[in-house]
Amino acid sequence: MLQKTPQKLKSMSKKIEKMRQEAFAQLKEIKTSEDLEKARTKYLGRNGLLAQLFKLIPRFGLKYRPEAGKLVNTLKRELEMNLRSRYNLLHREKEEKKLRLDITMPGISPELGSTHPISQTMNRISQIFMNLGFKVVQGPEVETDYYNFTALNIPQGHPSRETFHTFYLDSGELLRSQTSPVQIRVMEKQKPPLRIVAPGKVFRPDATDASHSFMFHQVEGLMVDRDVTFADLKGTLSIFVREMFGSGVRMRFRPHFFPFTEPSAEIDISCIICGGRGCRVCSFKGWLEILGAGLVDPNVFRAVKYDPEVWRGFAFGMGVERIAMLKYGITDIRLFYENDVRFLRQF
Ligand code: PHE
Repeated sequence: MLQKTPQKLKSMSKKIEKMRQEAFAQLKEIKTSEDLEKARTKYLGRNGLLAQLFKLIPRFGLKYRPEAGKLVNTLKRELEMNLRSRYNLLHREKEEKKLRLDITMPGISPELGSTHPISQTMNRISQIFMNLGFKVVQGPEVETDYYNFTALNIPQGHPSRETFHTFYLDSGELLRSQTSPVQIRVMEKQKPPLRIVAPGKVFRPDATDASHSFMFHQVEGLMVDRDVTFADLKGTLSIFVREMFGSGVRMRFRPHFFPFTEPSAEIDISCIICGGRGCRVCSFKGWLEILGAGLVDPNVFRAVKYDPEVWRGFAFGMGVERIAMLKYGITDIRLFYENDVRFLRQF
């Protein structure tokens, strides 16, 4: 039965609406790329449902043809858009699955660093003195002649001022050759009584060998009070030696000279390798020198305007590398500075 054109248009529009609803219901169910491809061929393929609809258009009279075309084209565009977004969705899920975290996979553990043996030793030394009421302070590595020498009662012409014992800078300053200048800086700022330790780097133009380096570390100590005696120095250092090396290690004071202490001493411990019997490490002496010390020279107190009639003090200075080498049985100081992780991992 031949229909009138507006009637045909109406039924076509109904057909299209039905197809749209069916198609959208089906597209919603798409789960896989295969589903997607099937739906695409069914609707948009060469012989698909849309192609069949297009074939109907010429049957409309000229007046209604554009209207019919528009209906089919609209459905076609809607289907294309929907299929494209289905495609994107499927594709994204696939990518996400690839990236999803697999908690059963073994992790990549980061390389952990650790404290350098010199820092460890310096921290340990500081801690022992902190337990005795000493405060940890720091001073600059670039110093003036005044703090490194003059205020410490080291006269002009003293050998330690020579260029082969001290690095001088063009500015007239120098790299401190000892941590003792921190004594002066602290006393200038603080009123007695006081107890400080000052760990840090020092510099001397020595030729490098197994026991020398142009840069090494010291820990300085200073205690000032009204009635400090040599016995306090001895008691403090014997506690330090016991805490650092163990109670079996003996200590001895040898008379010595430092411009900034009077009297002065060098302190030895019984060789921790051979127990004092004599070996290569202690050069068959049975003793190892570990630090210099003494009672603060009155001239040092005068330089910082402390009254030497009122105040007494003791000071000491020790080489950190030497103590670390003894404690860990290390025979070459250069190992500390080479950054070889095989060495560093052992601490
Ligand atoms: N500053 C001295 C040195 O470097 C050590 C020291 C410090 C001696 C304090 C006595 C008192 O050799």
